[in-house]
Amino acid sequence: MKEKLKNLENEFKKDFSYASCVADIENLRIKYLGRKSILTQLFSEIPKLAPSEKGVFGKAINSLKQKISFAIDGMAKQLIEGQAQVDLTYPASIKTSGSVHVLSELNRRICDVFEKLGFAIVEGNEIEDEWHNFQALNIPLDHPSRDAFDTFYLNLPESSGGDYLLRSHTSPSQVRIMQKAKPPLAVVSPGRVYRPDEVDATHSFMFHQIEGFAVNTDITFAHLKGVLLEFAKAFFSGEAKLRFRPHFFPFTEPSAEVDVSCMICSGKSDPDKKCSVCKDKGWLEILGCGMIHPNVLKACGINPKKYKGFAFGMGLERIAMLKYGINDIRLFYENDIRFLKQFTF
Ligand code: DAH
Repeated sequence: MKEKLKNLENEFKKDFSYASCVADIENLRIKYLGRKSILTQLFSEIPKLAPSEKGVFGKAINSLKQKISFAIDGMAKQLIEGQAQVDLTYPASIKTSGSVHVLSELNRRICDVFEKLGFAIVEGNEIEDEWHNFQALNIPLDHPSRDAFDTFYLNLPESSGGDYLLRSHTSPSQVRIMQKAKPPLAVVSPGRVYRPDEVDATHSFMFHQIEGFAVNTDITFAHLKGVLLEFAKAFFSGEAKLRFRPHFFPFTEPSAEVDVSCMICSGKSDPDKKCSVCKDKGWLEILGCGMIHPNVLKACGINPKKYKGFAFGMGLERIAMLKYGINDIRLFYENDIRFLKQFTF
């Protein structure tokens, strides 16, 4: 009896190893567990055994039956699931790979242009104190120009040592860098900025800026113009032209806003078709800039009689919107794949 069971188990193992489809498994079930199977026959032989052997073999046959059922059921389940996967009418699962976000890519490209012009890339702090965000940049606490930089304050305990805030622009990076490193300096500093603005097609409570500045003994407005023109040509188009309009910023004197010639209509708009990007003005505002105010240099421990500097700051979202004709800033943050996949880099 023992011998018979051993042989049966070995035979099953062999048959089982050849089974490769649901039909094979069903045949195994009939052969080993069916009414006419050897196992059923063995069960019927138990009453003929000596009383002392009945229990032992009864248990042994039962345990082999369980083993065989377990193996057959497991294999059947696997095969049935496997069959569903190779069903050619089953819709394919589409594998998509991610890509760099359009803002990250443009940030990289802009920084690349300045890096080639000799600028270092240094990131500043997103959490700033009032002094770096305002006073050091010649923005007195009670000055109306503060309204333009409306700010999220962090309500930290008094003991933390002053008023902390989410920086409202990247200009405080200038201050941090000038406090640490001394001229000659040429740095661009990209990063996130925060303002408590109502979110709409052109405003977001968080957006990105790229700050740039250079300080040395002989820096002039001509250097600023040259650097920005090189940037515009490399980033927008070889034909790009710039227009400087006088403006006011507390941290630069003189200050200017800069427009680039519209890269969509090149400024020569078709009389029949309105240019939707520049609205037929031919120019697009891209950044603010100027010569670093002597008070800013002084606040950073740099002698304004010896050193001069230029600075500029641009909004990354604005540049991306102009470059690609995007009309709603919210599209950048909503994570809508239909929008994002138009920019796979
Ligand atoms: N910080 C300004 C803003 O957020 C942008 C800016 C203008 C930066 C002129 C500059 C600059 O460095 O010179 O609106």
